[in-house]
Amino acid sequence: MTKSIVTCALPYANGKLHIGHMLEHIQGDVYTRFLKIIGKDALFIGGADMHGTPVELNAAKAGIDVEVFAEAYRKEFVKNFKDYLVEYDNFYKTHSPENKEFAEFFFKTLKEKGFVKIKSMEQMYDEKAKRFLPDRYVKGTCPKCQAEEQYGDICESCGTIYNPIDLINPYSVITQTKPVLKTSKHYFIELSKFTTQLKEWIDQSNFQSEIKNWLQNWMNEGLEDWCISRDEPYFGFEIPGSEKETGSKKFFYVWLDAPIGYISSTKNYTDQHNWKWEDYWKGGEITHILGKDIVYFHYLFWPAMLMAVGFSLPKIQTHGFITVNGKKMSKSRGTFFTADDFIKLYDAESLRFYYASHLDNKVVDINLDFKDFQAVINNVLMGNLGNFCYRTLVFAQKNYLTIETVAEEKELEQEITTLITEIKEHYHTFDFKNAVKKILKISDIGNQYFQKAQPWSDKDSDESKAAVGFCVNLARTLSILVQPILPILSKKVQTTLSEENLMWKDISFKWTGVLQKPEQLVQKIETLPISNDFPIQMKVGEIIEVKDHPNADKLYVMHVNFGSEKKQIVAGLKKHFTPEELVGTKAVFCVNLKPAKLRGELSQGMSMIAEDDEGNLSWLNPSEDIELGQEVQFEGLKNAEKEITFDEFVKIKLVAKDGKIFYDGKELQKVSVSGVKDGATVR
Ligand code: MSP
Ligand code: ZN
Repeated sequence: MTKSIVTCALPYANGKLHIGHMLEHIQGDVYTRFLKIIGKDALFIGGADMHGTPVELNAAKAGIDVEVFAEAYRKEFVKNFKDYLVEYDNFYKTHSPENKEFAEFFFKTLKEKGFVKIKSMEQMYDEKAKRFLPDRYVKGTCPKCQAEEQYGDICESCGTIYNPIDLINPYSVITQTKPVLKTSKHYFIELSKFTTQLKEWIDQSNFQSEIKNWLQNWMNEGLEDWCISRDEPYFGFEIPGSEKETGSKKFFYVWLDAPIGYISSTKNYTDQHNWKWEDYWKGGEITHILGKDIVYFHYLFWPAMLMAVGFSLPKIQTHGFITVNGKKMSKSRGTFFTADDFIKLYDAESLRFYYASHLDNKVVDINLDFKDFQAVINNVLMGNLGNFCYRTLVFAQKNYLTIETVAEEKELEQEITTLITEIKEHYHTFDFKNAVKKILKISDIGNQYFQKAQPWSDKDSDESKAAVGFCVNLARTLSILVQPILPILSKKVQTTLSEENLMWKDISFKWTGVLQKPEQLVQKIETLPISNDFPIQMKVGEIIEVKDHPNADKLYVMHVNFGSEKKQIVAGLKKHFTPEELVGTKAVFCVNLKPAKLRGELSQGMSMIAEDDEGNLSWLNPSEDIELGQEVQFEGLKNAEKEITFDEFVKIKLVAKDGKIFYDGKELQKVSVSGVKDGATVR
């Protein structure tokens, strides 16, 4: 039998896993569990990606030895997987003896076959830290749009891609000093030499259509040499002979040995069982599961390396990203959930079911919308599937204890058998969404059948017993069909039937036997996380210039300095203040108002002034220690990041009391008002 390996991308051992990562591990786990219950020889293989600059620098920042630091995260990952019922056969690491050996083997083979060349390269160098700087460790002003504080590879403001060398006023993120250019010799893989082979492989594959498009574009642009070495200091494997060949010690770039980690984790596992890793990697079937951000590495670099050494080429499944309530997860919006946070609030199977019912073969983002999440779990998982299995088993156990006869329902059996075949195909093609849909169709059929048979009206009749027998068989079948997604629910149902670990081939309509008392199957979702956002982003700024609005009598056009940026704000303050009174005022402003033109002048924010019913005014005065550009907050509330409209702004009610500003009973910290009565509102 063909041996199969399933992998998920190896998460960096550099921080906690979040619910976005868990999408991938759940997808991999569901797929491997499916392969296993249909009787395949499959292993779920993973590990922690320990190498590279960020891991090294963060360990240094924490004052911990880098290996100890990375290993602590690996252990946390293992615990997260247990919590989420993700069962890796082996979850290993890239900083291992096995991986060192394989990395050297790959490199040596690539070199011997003439795919590696050495070239000089100019890079940013931090003379104070005595190290070369990866693109993300250089910041400066965008050469195109002049946006400040941009990374060395891409401007997040205008999207321009450039080299760190092109930045205006570049500085090192590590020491804040100005980097210099320094030359060093490096190893490159000549990827273009694999063009024909890669093209053939891609053409004959059945990769997702989005992926095929990306790949075709990249191939058309031409494949460039790939730099696979890094200068020291670097946490990684030293390249044998590099000092002699390039003039200084070189290390394998993290992305060279990371995918090799799939093989070394396999070997670490097969060695423990006296099996052969070669059975999986030379002639076996490999399936990689990963996110859309690392497609280039897995569909071009990695297969080229595998082609060079002659190992099996993989199948690859790519998923989109998880968003929460429609947006990128964000700490300040309160929508960033680590795997640890989330499991404190909800059951693992809720998330598994939600993800499975949204995952299909497309490379699209999946939105975790909490209202939808609650509806899916309470109405669908609990209301349909859970309800059918539970009511059937409770009724059967309470009234009969054993199932002795099963009604023969030829037509229904036919319909369900067709659904089962389709479900199997959907699992195979990573269309979990449709697998779930059809599973629910079967429990729908069950619910209707039970309802129509009304076994409670004449419990002891032969018909009732046989009808319930049929329903128990459906529950048993469902326990097998959902096992990859809901292993606990499946186990509970099977325990009720005095069975365990049923396989796909055990599906039947003829089961009879003894029943145990069923347990509750699904946990209802009662509460949803509350957003702890305050909708206005409030920053401290200083008015530095005030002009009359050219087209409006009552308006000023002000320039306000927020430290690293300046904004133009149009305000109707003419009847209250002279320009001289305004210039030099340091106060709180709303800075996330949707920019708008007011009578032809751009306004990028809003002044915030308290006014009482006698017309007394007060700015919101920040305490001395607050610097320009700093945010002020209500106690326990984060400021929102997203833009608000003027209509939304005016609906928010802020009230003055005892010289302070309150929102919903919470005090605005480090801000005071003076000269206005209690009850004054901010406008
Ligand atoms: N270490 C590399 C992978 C090396 S594989 C040989 C890496 N690590 S990562 O921790 O940044 O990402 C691991 C996986 O998590 C990637 O497949 C990535 O796409 C996925 N995800 C990270 N954030 C995600 C979401 N918000 N949603 C879904 N998947 C996400 O890249
Ligand atoms: Zn720019």
